[in-house]
Amino acid sequence: MKVLVTGGAGFIGGNYVQYMVNKYPNYHIVNLDLLTYAGDLTKHKEIENRENYSFVHADIVDREKIFSLFKNEKFDYVVHFAAESHVDRSIKEPDIFVRTNVVGTQVLLDAAKSINVKKFVHVSTDEVYGELDYDPSTFFTEKTPLAPNSPYSASKASSDFFVRAYHETFGLPVNITRCSNNYGPYHFPEKLIPLTISRVLNDQKVPVYGDGKNIRDWLHVYDHCTAIDLVLHKGINGEVYNVGGHNEKTNLAVIQTIIRALNKNENLIEYVEDRLGHDKRYAIDPTKLEELGWQPRYSFETGIEQTIQWYLDNKEWWQNILNGEYRAYFKKQYKL
Ligand code: NAD
Ligand code: DAU
Repeated sequence: MKVLVTGGAGFIGGNYVQYMVNKYPNYHIVNLDLLTYAGDLTKHKEIENRENYSFVHADIVDREKIFSLFKNEKFDYVVHFAAESHVDRSIKEPDIFVRTNVVGTQVLLDAAKSINVKKFVHVSTDEVYGELDYDPSTFFTEKTPLAPNSPYSASKASSDFFVRAYHETFGLPVNITRCSNNYGPYHFPEKLIPLTISRVLNDQKVPVYGDGKNIRDWLHVYDHCTAIDLVLHKGINGEVYNVGGHNEKTNLAVIQTIIRALNKNENLIEYVEDRLGHDKRYAIDPTKLEELGWQPRYSFETGIEQTIQWYLDNKEWWQNILNGEYRAYFKKQYKL
């Protein structure tokens, strides 16, 4: 089987590429990535010379290049992660989110249709459902109507609609996965958990938006990888699968857990201006995926411990990022 993974130099796509290369020596995994600020290939040192792995530098919006690649490579499967993924950036610069997430997805769908791929898995997000209130008995199911609130989630919801339409109109064999917040190795330090770990380790203030009571439902990235693997091989064509492990935490609780684990002081917490349109709560009902045979392995407690240890053991990786373009973004975003 030849599998195209888009966005395989990013956080989740990168973990997924490594998982697939190791798990399926008889598959060939092609990682296609534009290497934006969020893409980095150094994470693939251990697999870059494997026979069942190759890298293609390309923009998913580049129709000509994408079509010619699909024609030459005749992929069996496409697993589509490539995206602009950060909500804060989408509030400041929505255009690139439409370009990459909507137009890029549509180009890939056309290319997949042109060679009749066996499966197109579109990696989407729970944010397309909008927000829940704080009633703990409410969850996002696959039947929850889409109500995206940020330019990021609006672009992901639009791409979901295109994926659905290519199934309904052209019979393309697709699945959409909608996962909750991921964390784990190689998470880019603009997102809450790696931002907190890296700043606490440097004795720098951690910016908390609003009152810190917003809730996210955290899933270890390795559990997300197994979910996508299952959907790729067993998902029923045209179906949506929510992915989540019932790990709801307030942002403040997450930050406090990290500060405590690193033996630092809570005076590092700094309340800053709230995110515009800040969604209150996300929480996933994963019953449909569990019925397909999936179970997460990590509780938040074991997952965060493993993740903090990974950031301690891999300081060079995130310090290189903090020394680059990201530094200018951080100053502009937080004025800290
Ligand atoms: P990321 O920002 O870490 O990685 C995105 C990757 O896509 C990068 O390697 C980047 O270089 C690449 N890319 C961007 N534009 C491209 C283009 N035009 N052509 C080719 N490659 C391009 O993102 P992530 O957090 O790993 O998220 C991956 C996917 O999973 C996204 O589609 C996101 O919406 C979805 N998702 C993320 C989370 C989360 O918590 N991070 C949760 C659910 C779903
Ligand atoms: O739910 C899935 C989504 O999770 C994915 O689709 C997105 O790609 C991913 O970025 C993530 O979105 P969030 O907006 O939830 O993640 P982020 O890490 O940016 O923020 C998590 C929470 O922490 C959110 O309530 C905002 C808050 N926050 C974030 C940052 C960066 C802060 O309080 N301070 C911060 O500095």
